[in-house]
Amino acid sequence: MRIVLLGPPGAGKGTQARKLSERYGIELIGTGDLFRDHVRNGTELGLLAKKYMDAGELVPDDVVVEIVAQALGSSDGFILDGFPRTTAQAEALERRLEEMGRPLTAVLAFDLPDEIAVKRIAGRRTCSTCGETTNVALDPPRVEGLCDRCGGALVQRDDDREDTVRRRLEVYHESTAPLWDFYRNRGLLRVVDAEGPEHEVTDRAVRALAPLEQDARP
Ligand code: AP5
Repeated sequence: MRIVLLGPPGAGKGTQARKLSERYGIELIGTGDLFRDHVRNGTELGLLAKKYMDAGELVPDDVVVEIVAQALGSSDGFILDGFPRTTAQAEALERRLEEMGRPLTAVLAFDLPDEIAVKRIAGRRTCSTCGETTNVALDPPRVEGLCDRCGGALVQRDDDREDTVRRRLEVYHESTAPLWDFYRNRGLLRVVDAEGPEHEVTDRAVRALAPLEQDARP
């Protein structure tokens, strides 16, 4: 399966991408995570990306397209989380997958009101040791400030301040939301209601993919 996840910041794309990648045994490529790795490693690309990320703006298309092309390699099955985010990125992806002879099988569009997204993001913390994501408002850790899984320190993403989140939502509505129609016109869009507990959202995503899973079987 070759799947794209669309949806506003805080919709749960990263959370669901990890679950679906495990369930279907396919590679997960998340552009936000790729950029954060570069920032942590202090690369030139990381320094460039951080400037845009901290302002809630998109990293320029040519930079993102290049990094995704490298990550894709000749991969047969994948989940793309956070890419594409503009029409130019979607067209570049389409061309690349056509060259590979491996078109997308589905686009899951996670639907969530902005106010719920803002609340989810306000509580999001990431473990600085193992990378596990948690939500201190919705599911507080056993020991304040520490990861339940490994005991590492929980930290807040630099771009999760409320004013930056509001800007990220604006950018999403301006630049990324038009991709719902882009993919609807290609018959690929499956809208998933992203409200409610994580496992319910996963069930909805799996149900949306079920007909495609059957088609993919020999
Ligand atoms: P990126 O890291 O992709 O951020 P995003 O799209 O803004 O998405 P988030 O990570 O904020 O949210 P999510 O939908 O993954 O939700 P999550 O599962 O974490 O991108 C960051 C930046 O990188 C961009 O702003 C841009 O600058 C740059 N960038 C990345 N890709 C780019 C591209 N293609 N082009 C240009 N620039 C690019 O969940 C959020 C919280 O809610 C968590 O705490 C989670 O535990 C909780 N949660 C999840 N599901 C539920 C649920 N069902 N109920 C309750 N809580 C839940």
